[in-house]
Amino acid sequence: MTSSPVPDEAFWNDLYGDRPRWSGNPNPHLVSTATGLTPGRALDIGSGEGGDSIWLAQQGWDVTALELSSVALTRARTAAESAAGLRPVDWLHADALTWRPSGADFDLVSSQYSHFPPAEMSTLLATMAAATRSGGTLVVVGHEAHEHAMIGPEFFFAAADLAAQLGEGWTNAQAGLLPHPVREGRDEVLVAVKATA
Ligand SMILES: C[S@@+](CC[C@H](N)C(=O)[O-])C[C@H]1O[C@@H](n2cnc3c(N)ncnc32)[C@H](O)[C@@H]1O
Repeated sequence: MTSSPVPDEAFWNDLYGDRPRWSGNPNPHLVSTATGLTPGRALDIGSGEGGDSIWLAQQGWDVTALELSSVALTRARTAAESAAGLRPVDWLHADALTWRPSGADFDLVSSQYSHFPPAEMSTLLATMAAATRSGGTLVVVGHEAHEHAMIGPEFFFAAADLAAQLGEGWTNAQAGLLPHPVREGRDEVLVAVKATA
C-alpha cells in the first residue's frame, strides 16, 4: 500500500488560497475543555485561520498560535485585528513536526483537526506533551476515520491510541469518539491532564 505524502506548506497555502475563510468559530470540544480552566499560557498547534486562538485570547489566555501556512497565518492575524477584547496572540510560523518547545511552559496545549500518519502523529504528541506544564491540559481532536479525497486512511488516529502513547504521568479525562456537538459525525477526542511534579 502506498501512503499519501504529508501535505507541505505549499499544499496548505493553495488550499487556503482557493477558498473563503472558514467560520472563524472556535471548535466546540476545545471550548468545553477550556471553559472552567484558569487562563494561563495556551499553545494552539495547526491554528489555521485563528478561530480557536482568538477565542482563547478573548477568554484571557496568552496564546501562541503555531501554523505552517503563511496564508492561514495572515488571515488569522487580520481576523485578530478586528476581533474585540483579546490579549495579544503570538502568531508563530513554524512546522509542528520539527519545532520544539523551550520548556514545559503551557497550561493548555491544543491540536484541532491536525491529521498525520502514525509516526508524525507520535512526533506531534511528544512535542505537545513536552510543552505541557505539570497540571496542564492537553487536548487533541480529529475527525473519525472516513474516506477522504486528499489523504489516506493512515492519516486518521484513535484517541485511545494517543492516550496509550502518553502513558504514565497523565490522567485521561476523555479518550474516544464523541459526537460533534454542532454538525453531523463524530470526532476522536483526547483530553489529558499532566500529573503535578
Ligand atoms: C484541518 S486544518 C485545522 C485548522 C484549525 N485547527 C481548525 O480546527 O480550524 C489543519 C491545519 O494544520 C496546519 N498544518 C498542517 N501541517 C502542519 C505542520 N506540520 N505544522 C503546523 N501546522 C500544520 C494546516 O496549515 C492547517 O491550518
